[in-house]
Amino acid sequence: MINGERSIERPLRWGMVGGGRTGQVGYKHRTGAQRDGTYRLVCGAFDLEAERGRDFGTKIGVSADRCYGHYKELIAGEARREDGVEVVSIATPNFTHYEITKSCLEAGLHVICEKPLFFTVTECDEIAKLAEEKNLIVGVTYGFTGHPLVHQMAAMVKKDMLGEIRIVDMQYTHGFNSGDDAGAGEAVKWRTNPKTAGPTFVLGDIGTHLYYLSEVVLPHLKIEKLLCDRKAFIPTRAPLEDHATVLMHYDNGARGRLWVSSVNAGNMGSQRYRFVGSKASIEWSDAQPDQLIYEVQGEPTRTLHHGMPYLEEESLAADRMGALHTEGLGDSWANIYLWIAQAIDAKRRGDEAFLRSHHYPGIEAGTEGVRWLENCVRSADAGAAWVDFK
Ligand code: NAI
Repeated sequence: MINGERSIERPLRWGMVGGGRTGQVGYKHRTGAQRDGTYRLVCGAFDLEAERGRDFGTKIGVSADRCYGHYKELIAGEARREDGVEVVSIATPNFTHYEITKSCLEAGLHVICEKPLFFTVTECDEIAKLAEEKNLIVGVTYGFTGHPLVHQMAAMVKKDMLGEIRIVDMQYTHGFNSGDDAGAGEAVKWRTNPKTAGPTFVLGDIGTHLYYLSEVVLPHLKIEKLLCDRKAFIPTRAPLEDHATVLMHYDNGARGRLWVSSVNAGNMGSQRYRFVGSKASIEWSDAQPDQLIYEVQGEPTRTLHHGMPYLEEESLAADRMGALHTEGLGDSWANIYLWIAQAIDAKRRGDEAFLRSHHYPGIEAGTEGVRWLENCVRSADAGAAWVDFK
């Protein structure tokens, strides 16, 4: 169980680019990072509007001289200090991730970046090489994959409690973009423009969460082929999609089905996962994150609750609140930030043995998400054709 006891040598000096007053995801980063005292927020270039960013920064406790108007000023300003920033989180629109990550790494800073990591696998490979040369960590924030019941699912699959995996069924949908984009805010505008969002809208925005979680639960399964059918129900969003279905064939013969949509009008279900094996199935949804449904063929359905002693040790090790008390998205983010902090700490100490056995969403997790997107787009643009997964 995680109780806030510090597991690294000292708090990391941490800064943020983006995630300002109007940003949707910034607060999740701050609650995640600051939960266990492993990060101390010392600086930020929080906003595209420099003044608003400065005002915001000081109101969340950052000293005025370390609230910068631009990420380049942050890098230069912090480099001049003895106690300069060591790790920077990037919570800005997709098209800025690559250049900010690259600049931070070149300046010797660890990076924690939002998904989808970059636009292309080529960019991911280039950044992975740079991080390796600089001996730095790149972490990626797939929000719900720190949840203890996600790690319960992974442990159950590893223990062969499901048997051979046959069916992977995943859905992440909502209805917030059911209407047109007239009068839409900034977050919708950049998401629906290929120049700022990249080659996808909902596939990258929410589909990569599904894909990465399935990789955590089923690390031994690899996709051999996939078919992606995507559509913009609101035509101004084309060539990007507000709805997509992806079918997947895995190397063990399993079949996968994934549905992402932001035009599922009225739906508030968010994410749902069902993994079906030859002996049993498991099902989890972030609408009821405390419960994992476990169904063994021929037996009554069981509901497993987080924090209970009957769970696997991997799940209990990731638990914060204990049974009976809700464990949710904020707790999951805190775990992700903690695991990335432990990776950064190990890097600093040169503890490669720890890093080899330590699980956290790193550059590979970001790269695989982008690879999956590239394959989805290739299939969709070929008229929803089956394509070999490259
Ligand atoms: P947003 O549009 O709501 O906020 C973006 C923030 O970044 C704003 O504060 C804006 O002023 C600032 N910004 C933009 N360009 C900047 C620059 N060059 N320098 C400094 N600040 C800049 O966007 P949202 O929804 O917060 O998404 C940001 C990123 O986070 C995206 O990559 C998105 O895919 C990802 N995201 C991830 C989630 C997760 O669960 N991991 C959830 C929501 C978003």
